[in-house]
Amino acid sequence: MRSERTHAVGRPAKQLRSRSFCRSGQEEEEKTFSRKRMNSFDREGGHCTEMAMVCLTDFEEYAKEHLSKATWDYYAAGADDCCTRDDNLLAFKRIRLRPRILRDVSVSDTRTTVQGMEISFPVGVAPTAFHCLAWHEGEVATARAAESVNTCYITSTYSTCSVEEIAAAAPGGYRWFQLYVYRDRKLSELIVQRVESLGYKALVLTVDVPYTGKRRNDIRNQFKLPPHLKVKNFEGMFQQETGAPEEYGIPANTLDPSISWKDVSWLQSITRLPVIIKGILTKEDAELAVEHGVQGVIVSNHGGRQLDGGPASIDALSEIVDAVQGRIEVYVDGGIRTGSDVLKALALGARCVFIGRPVVWGLAYKGEEGVREVLQILNDEFRLSMTLSGCRNVGEINRNLIQVSKL
Ligand SMILES: Cc1cc2nc3c(=O)[nH]c(=O)nc-3n(C[C@H](O)[C@H](O)[C@H](O)COP(=O)(O)O)c2cc1C
Repeated sequence: MRSERTHAVGRPAKQLRSRSFCRSGQEEEEKTFSRKRMNSFDREGGHCTEMAMVCLTDFEEYAKEHLSKATWDYYAAGADDCCTRDDNLLAFKRIRLRPRILRDVSVSDTRTTVQGMEISFPVGVAPTAFHCLAWHEGEVATARAAESVNTCYITSTYSTCSVEEIAAAAPGGYRWFQLYVYRDRKLSELIVQRVESLGYKALVLTVDVPYTGKRRNDIRNQFKLPPHLKVKNFEGMFQQETGAPEEYGIPANTLDPSISWKDVSWLQSITRLPVIIKGILTKEDAELAVEHGVQGVIVSNHGGRQLDGGPASIDALSEIVDAVQGRIEVYVDGGIRTGSDVLKALALGARCVFIGRPVVWGLAYKGEEGVREVLQILNDEFRLSMTLSGCRNVGEINRNLIQVSKL
């Protein structure tokens, strides 16, 4: 994707591939960590036919079938009744497009820029935690995939590879770093210094987690990182007694619930990187973000994992775009599963979208290659939707594409 500048539509569908396959009856845990391939077993011939991965939900099915239950539940989780998580997807399906015709779409171009950097298409990788649960190389594989398709990868604080390992694995990759504010500000400060010196290009401050949302299955499963995995960025940094309560790999109560706009100013005072706020859902907070001089906002409800009952992020997008009036870039994540979802988000004013769960499904399928496939499929679908609605490039996408009466 990196080298493609313009591209004629109509790629061949993904081919069905087949390969000999021998199932070894591994234990559940081993299945999670060392699985290299994933095929459906043809009992008659002892052959296996790899599933044709045609759309992102194929990767979801694969992941559901092959990850351990606790890992699948952790990735899939939403808060409480999961209304907001599910509405993230349903809301996209409610939006209808107004395609234009006869516009010569024989040549198309999906490139755009975010924060002044060119990316090959307007889809980046949202920060998600614990990639080593899905694939043994974890975030290193994700970083390589994002680099190879030339898009932005927002690395999570809760990575199971360190920011140094990630940067070394994909030295040419375009990366932002996602940050939380900790009670011990020194911890946040140290990680900011590390990512700055490693060439991460922006800080994404996640603001919707003063406390962790209630994810029922994680509680039922007593979700814990397996002992061989760590939140690598903080390895050895917490002095805690053995057996002290942990939450998602770090000591409980490490995040600071007193975080406020003052901390945004504090963060700006300790970095020269652009600051982007992730987790904005209202025009009032978007206005405050602009007033505080941040360079971008991500309209996000954390994939429905925090407050249940909040809006689908695509439903919140328009009021934020209207409030911001082009003064800073607006991005959105949550429920993006198809190219036409990407098109709808851009038509409603997003500069770029980010995907969370589909990336871990890609990892579960085939590591780096799986993530690349997920991104490539989304790019192909986006290009197709864009051209079928009469747009040759992202600059031609605007709100006239949306059937407002259906909103
Ligand atoms: C398993 C998982 C882990 C996540 N970890 C983080 C995280 O560490 N930091 C963060 O800001 N957001 C995190 N998120 C939220 C994502 O960045 C993003 O907002 C969300 O996944 C987008 O929705 P989608 O999964 O429907 O694409 C996580 C989401 C999931 C599903």
